[in-house]
Amino acid sequence: MTDAELPILDVPTAVDEVIRTRRTSLLIDPDDEVPAELLSLLIELATWAPNHKRTWPWRFTVITGDARYRFGEALASVAEREGVPPEKVAKLPTKYARSAAVVLVWVAVDPQPVRAREDRDAVAAAVQNLLLAATSFGLGNYWATIPDVLDEPTRHFAGVDGDHDLVALVYLGWPTGSAPPPHRPPAEVTWLS
Ligand SMILES: Cc1cc2nc3c(=O)[nH]c(=O)nc-3n(C[C@H](O)[C@H](O)[C@H](O)COP(=O)(O)O)c2cc1C
Repeated sequence: MTDAELPILDVPTAVDEVIRTRRTSLLIDPDDEVPAELLSLLIELATWAPNHKRTWPWRFTVITGDARYRFGEALASVAEREGVPPEKVAKLPTKYARSAAVVLVWVAVDPQPVRAREDRDAVAAAVQNLLLAATSFGLGNYWATIPDVLDEPTRHFAGVDGDHDLVALVYLGWPTGSAPPPHRPPAEVTWLS
């Protein structure tokens, strides 16, 4: 195939730009609310991820307003006895109020290992959809992990039983600045023809 047959390669699309400009960043105004309608739209867009066997394994918890503080306090109340270092425990009560909204993304647990792996992959794809959609609406975003020792209080706060596992905690909010892009090494690619 020649370049002449692929003129689209010369035309950057909106998707290119969103993929390249999405950045893990907490340069976010914690007090500037994200409308519930927009959060709902982002979650609906997340669910357009590919999903083998159409199991629709995702589940979401949206935390805004005072609930961000109640969430942090709930984690802080067990963190100390779980061995979390004191300086990290001290930050927990306000940690999740660093953005206007926090979305927890869960995967339904499947007892069959291959299905469980595929379902988690599908939910990770859904998280990326959410991040890219947020970027396209001008929202700052940040994919974070909750340490395993805080899994139980996170479930308790969200009302999620052992039939789901947490995949991601996503901070969302209107940006106050932009983080520099990290260096990305070129992909290792093997071309076979
Ligand atoms: C599964 C997963 C978990 C992550 N957890 C964290 C985290 O706990 N804390 C953090 O600072 N970044 C976390 N990140 C974000 C990465 O640090 C970030 O994507 C990476 O530095 C590249 O930067 P970029 O996303 O701006 O391109 C996570 C990313 C993924 C995919």
